[in-house]
Amino acid sequence: MSEIKEEVKEQIAKRRTFAIISHPDAGKTTLTEKFLLYGGAINQAGSVKGKATARHAVSDWMEIEKERGISVTSSVLQFNYGGYCINILDTPGHQDFSEDTYRTLMAADSAVMVIDASKGVEAQTRKLFKVCTMRHIPIFTFINKMDREAMDTFELLDDIEQELGIATCPINWPIGSGKEFRGVYDRAEKQVEIFSGTQKGTTQGEVKKVSINDPEISWLISDSQKLQLEEEIELQDGAGAPFDQELVSKGELSPVFFGSALTNFGVETFLQHFLKMTTSPLPRMSDAGPIDPMVEPDFSAFVFKIQANMNKAHRDRIAFMRICSGEFEAGMDVWHMQGGKKVRLSQPQQLMASERKMISKAYGGDIIGVFDPGIFSIGDTLTASANRFSYEGIPTFAPEHFARVRQVDTMKRKQFIKGINQIAQEGAIQIFQEFNTGMEEIIVGVVGVLQFDVLKYRLENEYNVEIRMDSLPYEYIRWIESSKTEVDKITGTSDMKKVKDLKGRPLLLFVNEWSIRMTVERNEGLVLSEFGR
Ligand code: G4P
Repeated sequence: MSEIKEEVKEQIAKRRTFAIISHPDAGKTTLTEKFLLYGGAINQAGSVKGKATARHAVSDWMEIEKERGISVTSSVLQFNYGGYCINILDTPGHQDFSEDTYRTLMAADSAVMVIDASKGVEAQTRKLFKVCTMRHIPIFTFINKMDREAMDTFELLDDIEQELGIATCPINWPIGSGKEFRGVYDRAEKQVEIFSGTQKGTTQGEVKKVSINDPEISWLISDSQKLQLEEEIELQDGAGAPFDQELVSKGELSPVFFGSALTNFGVETFLQHFLKMTTSPLPRMSDAGPIDPMVEPDFSAFVFKIQANMNKAHRDRIAFMRICSGEFEAGMDVWHMQGGKKVRLSQPQQLMASERKMISKAYGGDIIGVFDPGIFSIGDTLTASANRFSYEGIPTFAPEHFARVRQVDTMKRKQFIKGINQIAQEGAIQIFQEFNTGMEEIIVGVVGVLQFDVLKYRLENEYNVEIRMDSLPYEYIRWIESSKTEVDKITGTSDMKKVKDLKGRPLLLFVNEWSIRMTVERNEGLVLSEFGR
C-alpha cells in the first residue's frame, strides 16, 4: 500500500465534523450562527437566522421548502477557526424532522446538544441522543438561554443524567440566571467570566475573566451570589464526576457549558473547549476492518443522504457523502462498491456558510454533494483504493407515523408503484406491505409528518399521480431481531399488525409501548429492535 501524503494527513487532522442536536427553539440556529460569526464566515449575526432570507437560501431546492419557508433537508456548513476546519452538519428540526435528521448523525464525529435552560431535556433531543449513544460518539452539552429564568443548575444536570443516562461534567458553572445572570465560573481556571451585553450578540464582544475575589467585581456579584456559587462548586467538586477525556471520547461523559447564544455569552469559550475535547475524523468500520484516515492513503466515502429534485427540469439528484479517508478531487473516477463499477464524481458541491459552491478539493472528514444519475443508495461506499471494501451500512430508523396510501386513478397503478418505490429507495419514506398478502396495500411509514406532504407533492409533480392517504393509528415499529417461533405464530395484542419491508423482513406495528411490552412478554425469546440493520 502506498503512503498517505503528509499534506493530506495534516488536512484531515484539522477537521472537526459535528452535528448540533436540539429540540426546536432551544437555540440551535442561533448558536450555529454565532459559531460562523467567530469563524469569520459571516460578518454580522442575523444573516443565518432570518429564516425567510439567508437561511432559506441554504437549501432552497424544493418548491415545498419555498412555500413553507422551512428547510426540508439537512445541509452542511464549513468554516475555519483557530487552525481547525469545521464542518457543522445541520439536522433539520421542527415539523421537517425526518429520517435524514437521524442519518446526518451517522456522518458526524461528535454531537453538540443544545438545551434550553428553562426546559431541560425535551422530546426531540431524547430521540436524537439515542442515535448518538448507539454510535458512541462524544456528546457536548451547551445549556442555552441563561439570560432567561433557568432551572436550578443541579436539577438541569440531574435531568440530563436521568433522562439520557449519560454522566455530566460541568466545565463552567452559571452565576444566577435571567436578570440576575452575571456570568460563569470556570472550574479549572477558577475564574469568573463576566457577562456583558454585546448588542444582542451581533458583535463578538470582549470576554473578561477575573478572580472571584477580585474587588473589581464586588459591585456586580453580590455577597449572597458569591456564597451560593462557593457552596454549589464545593458540592459539585465533592459529588460530581471529574473530567475524564477518555470517557468523553467514548460518549460516556458529557462536558457541560452554560451560556446565552443570543447575547453571545459563553459561545466562544464553548467553541474553544469543544474543539480541543472533540475528535478529528476517526477510523470507520468496514467489511475489511476499521479504515483509519491517518493510514489509508486513498479516497473513500459513504453516502448518507440523497436529495432528489434539486432541479425539476432535469429530475436530478445529489448524493451527499461523508469522506472517510484520502483526498477528493473534482471529476475523479472511483469505484462504486454496490454498483460494481467505476463512476466519475462530478459537479461536487459544498455549502459554505449560506451559499452553495462548487469545490475542487476536499478531505477526509468533509461532506460533499455530487451529482447522482440515479445510481446511488443510502449507505453506499465509494473508494479509489485498490483494496476494495464497503463501509458498515446505515441502519433504518423507526418511523413514527403510518398511512395507507393508494392512487386515486386506478389506471395509474404502474406510475404509482414506480414513483413510490423510487422515493423509498432514496430513503425519504419507508414502505411496507401486509405480511401475508400481495402488493395491493401499501403502508407508508415516516419519521416526521412533513414527509407525507413531500410524498404527495412529489408523486403529483414528478410522476403525475394523485394519491389518497388514510392515516393509521400505529406509532411504533419494531424489527424482529430474533424469535423462537415463526412470524406467523407470534401472538401480540389485538391492535398489533404484522408487515414486511421492501427486503421482505418482517416487522411489527404497535399503537403504544404497552403493546410492545405485552408482545415481548407473551413470546419467549422474541427480541425486537428500534433500528433495522
Ligand atoms: P432552533 O434553531 O433550535 O429552533 O432555535 P433558534 O436558534 O431559532 O432560537 C429560537 C428562539 O430562541 C429565537 O427567538 C431565538 O432568538 C431565541 N434564543 C436563542 N438563544 C437564546 C438565548 O440565549 N437567550 C434568549 N433569551 N433567547 C434565545 P424567536 O423569537 O423565536 O425568533 P427571533 O424573533 O429572535 O428570530
